Amino acid sequence: SWTSGNVADQLVEQVREQIGSDRVICGLSGGVDSSVAAALVQRAVGDQLTCVFVDHGLLREGEAEQVETDFVAATGVDLVVVDARQRFLDALAGVTDPEAKRKVIGREFIRVFEQAARDVVRAHQGGAGDTDAPEGEHPVRWLVQGTLYPDVVESGGGTGAANIKSHHNVGGLPEDLQFSLVEPLRTLFKDEVRQVGLELGVPEGIVWRQPFPGPGLGIRIIGEVTADRLAILRRADAIAREELTAAGLDREIWQCPVVLLADVRSVGVQGDGRTYGHPVVLRPVSSEDAMTADWTRLPYDVLARISSRVTNEVEEINRVTLDVTSKPPGTIEWE
Ligand code: XMP
Repeated sequence: SWTSGNVADQLVEQVREQIGSDRVICGLSGGVDSSVAAALVQRAVGDQLTCVFVDHGLLREGEAEQVETDFVAATGVDLVVVDARQRFLDALAGVTDPEAKRKVIGREFIRVFEQAARDVVRAHQGGAGDTDAPEGEHPVRWLVQGTLYPDVVESGGGTGAANIKSHHNVGGLPEDLQFSLVEPLRTLFKDEVRQVGLELGVPEGIVWRQPFPGPGLGIRIIGEVTADRLAILRRADAIAREELTAAGLDREIWQCPVVLLADVRSVGVQGDGRTYGHPVVLRPVSSEDAMTADWTRLPYDVLARISSRVTNEVEEINRVTLDVTSKPPGTIEWE
């Protein structure tokens, strides 16, 4: 019978057989799937695993620390952190078109990850004439992917590295940097992944994290992405999340993007003074699979607390608005 305990044990055993004494690399995003996959592989082969976390500076408040501190403490993974925050800001300067933003972020991400992967491979290159490599090193042959069962089905099933989705996931890596895939979650559904994650001691903040887009806050700033704007949005988002959590609504809502209308300003009044600040949009949605969604009827008192706190605590924001559009016709994210 299915228990998260014996499923975790079985998966750990399978990974151990698959990888043997080779080395393995894993990109961590802060999301549930890559975190649980990494925790499983760490349990199976310990320090043969090196994780790479690219900090692109587009995560929400506390999320980089959740990976760098909490996840590492809980699982003991060997983690390489690449601070690419300035690089992403430079690449995003002047970019306002949503698709262009996504392309820039995706391109920079693969470049930074590729460099980090090369560094890891080089550090563990065994063989004659390599004086840097520790004695008896094994090559880095494997790349961990957090592919789930629904992804496998979507891409036509099959086993091994040949299926479309997996191929697509590593498609950005160059010819000379190819790995075989380890996909320890490919028989599991999302809720099973969460149970296995809890079993392995992955922090609850990661296990229960709501969906968050890869391009992060970059596509929640309408207009150019700048360091100042990211800081403003991060504070507003943190307040909204704090109040939704305090109200016990985390499991009820699918996710609640907070969107900064950075190029829009409106007049307001605060104390004795006129303000000329920016609006944020709250986008609480209920959904089963993100293909369709409805706007969540949040209690008025929760909305009131978020509105009051955001406008009081984030100086640059003088209006909080609510998005009451379903999907379709709206998408969940604004970009
Ligand atoms: P939309 O905005 O298309 O979003 O209704 C549907 C779901 O997908 C998430 N999303 C993304 N996730 N990379 C991701 O990993 C992305 O580029 C991306 N864009 C949107 C979104 O948060 C929602 O849950």
